[in-house]
Amino acid sequence: MNTFGNKLRVTVFGESHGELIGVVLDGVPAGLPLSADDFLADLDRRRSGARGTTSRHESDAPHIVAGIYEGHTTGAPLAITFDNGDTRSGDYASLLDHPRPSHADFVAARKFHGFNDPRGGGHFSGRLTLTLVAAGVVAKKMIAPIAVAAVIKSIGGSSDSAEFQSIIEAAMADGDSVGGVIECTATGVPVGLGEPFFDSVESLASHLLFSIPAVKGVEFGSGFAAAALRGSQNNDPIISPDGRTATNNAGGIVGGITNGNPSVIRVAVKPTPSISRTQNTLRISTGQVESLAIKGRHDACIALRVPVVVEAAIAIALAQLIPDPRL
Ligand SMILES: Cc1cc2nc3c(=O)[nH]c(=O)nc-3n(C[C@H](O)[C@H](O)[C@H](O)COP(=O)(O)O)c2cc1C
Repeated sequence: MNTFGNKLRVTVFGESHGELIGVVLDGVPAGLPLSADDFLADLDRRRSGARGTTSRHESDAPHIVAGIYEGHTTGAPLAITFDNGDTRSGDYASLLDHPRPSHADFVAARKFHGFNDPRGGGHFSGRLTLTLVAAGVVAKKMIAPIAVAAVIKSIGGSSDSAEFQSIIEAAMADGDSVGGVIECTATGVPVGLGEPFFDSVESLASHLLFSIPAVKGVEFGSGFAAAALRGSQNNDPIISPDGRTATNNAGGIVGGITNGNPSVIRVAVKPTPSISRTQNTLRISTGQVESLAIKGRHDACIALRVPVVVEAAIAIALAQLIPDPRL
């Protein structure tokens, strides 16, 4: 379904080239100061325009259409919409019959019997992450003083930020795309958030993070590297009564529960599936594999736009777990 959460229930709706996209947030406490301006900084961080991102330009202006009165949340469902303007739907008409490799065209057409909206990826589009970022702005207010901050750790396999731009340029020159790794840190996290099993912090965070299109891996603390370590290397000695540890290989989470250290999460973002190089893929009407030249405007490196989306996912996950609204 398109709804996540119990305490803060988030519903996203819309398609990339439909009239609008939006998010409904149920469970936002009454009395939270909120205005359209509060969204601008985070929405701007997800915006396209930088080299390596799509040339589609949208205003991304948030319309708060319900749940707010005189500058404060009312406690009723909060609804925020964004108009879609800069669409070129003709670029996508043929994809129902000739689906892009590693995009959702094929599975969407099968699952929804061809009734899915293929324009710009429809409901599968990265554009929908705008709604997650908006939800994240509200969730960040709910979880304060916990703060979340995400950065790009690597692009195309390199962790040298001085190389990022040239790696992206080289891929673009080849009509290709590159992936990247994002690291998110939550600070000011108290001991005790999360449940031992299904609502572990890792479970909730992963559920949200894997909802972000193009996210293919999630790890906490030392993550996959832990499998190659000995216990003596991976264990985090506790050094203070508030749970602080000498190292943080656990990424701030043990037994599904926050341990008072920063939560550290890394996310792998795959290379953009829509590349301008010609690729082979099935043409459904002929049953033959034929070459496909993808049209449309695409990000060459999705990871450039994802850090603020990851922050939103983590904030929404933590908002499920905070004991009381902190107003
Ligand atoms: C911010 C953002 C922007 C994206 N831009 C594009 C794009 O321009 N072209 C594209 O093919 N995929 C883009 N994607 C990824 C696709 O939506 C995604 O790969 C596709 O829906 C298949 O889902 P999966 O990769 O999670 O399996 C973007 C994703 C995000 C989060």
